[in-house]
Order: sequence, then C-alpha cells, then structure tokens
Amino acid sequence: MSKNISISILSGKGGVGKTNIALNLGYALHSLEQKVVILDCDLGLANLNILLGLEPSKNIQDVLLGDSQPEEILISVEKNLDIIASTSGVLEILDLEEDIQFMVEERLQPLLSTYDFILLDLGAGIGASTLAFAAATSLRIIVITPEPTSLTDSYAVIKILKNNYGLKNFFIVVNSVSSEQEAKLSFQRLNTACEKFLGLSLLYLGWVHYDENVSRAIREQKPFQKFYSDSLAASDILKIGKKLLRLTENANSIKKGLSLVEGINKTKET
Ligand SMILES: Nc1ncnc2c1ncn2[C@@H]1O[C@H](COP(=O)(O)OP(=O)(O)OP(=O)(O)O)[C@@H](O)[C@H]1O
Ligand SMILES: [Mg+2]
Repeated sequence: MSKNISISILSGKGGVGKTNIALNLGYALHSLEQKVVILDCDLGLANLNILLGLEPSKNIQDVLLGDSQPEEILISVEKNLDIIASTSGVLEILDLEEDIQFMVEERLQPLLSTYDFILLDLGAGIGASTLAFAAATSLRIIVITPEPTSLTDSYAVIKILKNNYGLKNFFIVVNSVSSEQEAKLSFQRLNTACEKFLGLSLLYLGWVHYDENVSRAIREQKPFQKFYSDSLAASDILKIGKKLLRLTENANSIKKGLSLVEGINKTKET
C-alpha cells in the first residue's frame, strides 16, 4: 500500500530554492525506496522540467482543461520517480469554473493515490492558487534562507495559512547556509515570531549548505542528488529525506492524498 502523503513546498520570498529542493528531495526519497511524483504547480513560472532538460509536449494544464488523460502527462525520470510538468503563464487555476475544479480532484487523484510521496513545487508568495495548493496537501515545507526578507515574507505566508486555513503544522528547511548554527539561528528567529504572535511552533526539518554544485547542476540540467551525490547539498537533502520518512512512518493521523477542492473551498470562504 502506498503512503500517499502529499507535501507542498512553498516560500514567502521567491528564488529561495523551492524547485531545487522539490526535485532533489524527490530523488532522495526515491533513493530511500519510495514511489514519488513531483508536480510543478507553479502556474506562473514553471521550471521543474528545465532543471531536468525536458521539453514535455503535454502538461498539467492539458489535464485541468480536460484535453488529456492524467496518465498522458506523467514523465518517468526513473523507475518509480515521475514528474508532472507545467507551463509558464496563462492559467490561474482559480479562474476555472467550479466543475473543472472538481474534475481536477476526480481526474488527478486516482493517479496520485498510487504514490508514497507527492511533492508539489509551488510558486512563491501568497497567490490564491499557491495558498489553495498549500492547504490541499498533507504536509507543508516552507523554504527559508537567512535573509531578513525571507524571514518576514515566510512569516506572512504562515500567518495567512493559519488564519485563513486553520493550518498549524509547518516544516521548515533553511537553504543556502554555511553552517548548522546559521540555519538554527534563522529557524529560531522565525519560530520565535510565530510562537509569540501566532501561538504556533514550527518544526525544524533540516538545512542545506550553500553549494556551488547546485548552480552547476542547474546549468547542466541534471539533478545534483543523482549526478553530484557526494556534494554537501545532496547529503543535506538526503538527511532531510530520511527525517521526513521517519516522521511520517507511523503517523496515522496524517491526511492522505491531495484534496484540492477542500483547499479551493476554503479560499472561497475567506
Ligand atoms: N543550496 C544552494 N546553494 C547554492 N545556490 C542555490 C542553492 N539553492 C538554490 N540556489 C540558487 O538559487 C536559485 C533559485 O533556486 P530555485 O529556482 O530552486 O528557487 P525557487 O524558490 O524555486 O524560485 P521561484 O520562487 O522563482 O520559483 C538557483 O538558480 C540557484 O542558483
Ligand atoms: Mg521555483
């Protein structure tokens, strides 16, 4: 039986490393014998496929608009590791008619239910579709960097997800740092603000070194987790994957799958 845990990967500020973490965490979980699918849900600036040098002819929009079957948009990058691409611009999911929103649920969900982990690479910030996707998943990873703007923007995202969606559990990954100490300090700053003003504690999932191999892998359009598996960034991401696996192993209370309709309905209520 598949675990069927969906995780959205989001941030306040843009360019903090979400897409790279989604892709390489997908590879890490796959190396830990999990069946994984990574969905590019950045409907504004899609680039998951670019990190892999792929030019898919069909993407998530074709299913959302009803032109393709879900199976047709799956791209297998390894056995038991698939991606679903998106395309930049055009479609804002919340502009679709309500029956199409239900179709998303009905059409994508049966396919997604066969995976252990469903990773959603989201756009930055507080766009309506980003928040709806974030509320739709079993868990959420907020990617932060030590920059003050990243911390304040992350706080804003957490505040909205708590106040408008009642969400209280957030995993934090600190990216592009030079030491564990720096990572913990950034985490503590954000956590202190959340505890004081929102009454919630964040969960520290891990940190990733600033590592030149990340941009090298991007330029070569290869995932560093596979091609630079000895790099600092790859070993950090593997640690995060292992911790995630441990935390989700016996947690029966985790909501299964991806309930997009639930997220969209909540958006409408607010
Ligand atoms: N750990 C790291 N070490 C060095 N550079 C990094 C690291 N993580 C990310 N980067 C750099 O940051 C850039 C942005 O990364 P990425 O595209 O994954 O961010 P993003 O949060 O998905 O951006 P967007 O908000 O635009 O979707 C990359 O091109 C890369 O050069
Ligand atoms: Mg991105």
